[in-house]
Amino acid sequence: MIFRLAHLTDPHLPLPRARARELMTKRILGWQSWHRRRKSIHLSTVLQAVVRDVHAHHPDQIAVTGDVGNISLPSEHAAAREWFETIDRPERVLVVPGNHDAYVSLPASEGVALWGAYREGEDGAAPAIRRLGQVMLIGVDSAVPMPWLMSGGTVGPAQMDKLGAALDRGRREGLCRVVLIHHPPVPIRGGSGRKALSDAEAFRQTLARHGAELVIHGHTHRRSLVMLDTAAGRTPVVGAPSASANDRRHGDMGGWNLYEIARMGTGWQIDMTCREATPSGPIATIATETLRVVPP
Ligand SMILES: [Fe+2]
Repeated sequence: MIFRLAHLTDPHLPLPRARARELMTKRILGWQSWHRRRKSIHLSTVLQAVVRDVHAHHPDQIAVTGDVGNISLPSEHAAAREWFETIDRPERVLVVPGNHDAYVSLPASEGVALWGAYREGEDGAAPAIRRLGQVMLIGVDSAVPMPWLMSGGTVGPAQMDKLGAALDRGRREGLCRVVLIHHPPVPIRGGSGRKALSDAEAFRQTLARHGAELVIHGHTHRRSLVMLDTAAGRTPVVGAPSASANDRRHGDMGGWNLYEIARMGTGWQIDMTCREATPSGPIATIATETLRVVPP
């Protein structure tokens, strides 16, 4: 029995019109950044092609690891919800927010709560835990409003404890535990302190103690693979590109990853297929890799 998980991240949906008073905060920086540069990099056409490609691969579940919007306008969160509905129903899509989805503090009713069941697991609290056959998805929320010029994140002790307990439960039940988080919990080349996860060390210790079979993240808009020693063995920590990118100058093209998860003896075999837009347009497989996670 193979479980197929699609991972896409950082779609940065087009920024809608904003009222002047909505921009009299840190949002003005993100608004300027969008209009100067980002709107020519994050294209709806690329994102639509990526989603069509995801659908063509018939995944069992689709994970979206944040930065759905740009400056946390309530209208962006409402548009995000509409976009999720074009992907699939909430039981088939699990979303965690990114720093751009918590760009400023908002009343709960105007924030990512508008995403509804798309960010929920067994209960309404983070991390969102979903058991899907032989797989347990754990969606960690690392998005907290940060000061100007900062795009870091924090998991926090309460969520960290619940993550540890969920990982233990998943191990007892013999499930393949997949953790979703926006911020990379490992050092990535080119990453800087103002963009980092503040409690990454505690997060890595939690994984080391309790084990996980796969960690997937966004934030960097780049592909990356780091192996982390955990109680589950060598755990792959994989970053994916922005699903809407069309940055030919830097070679950053929109893409996503497909994971095919199968039990292998006492461990798991996870076949990763990296799909990406090519300069001529169509989305193609640019790499495949077999990741084997076997308990030490
Ligand atoms: Fe992003």
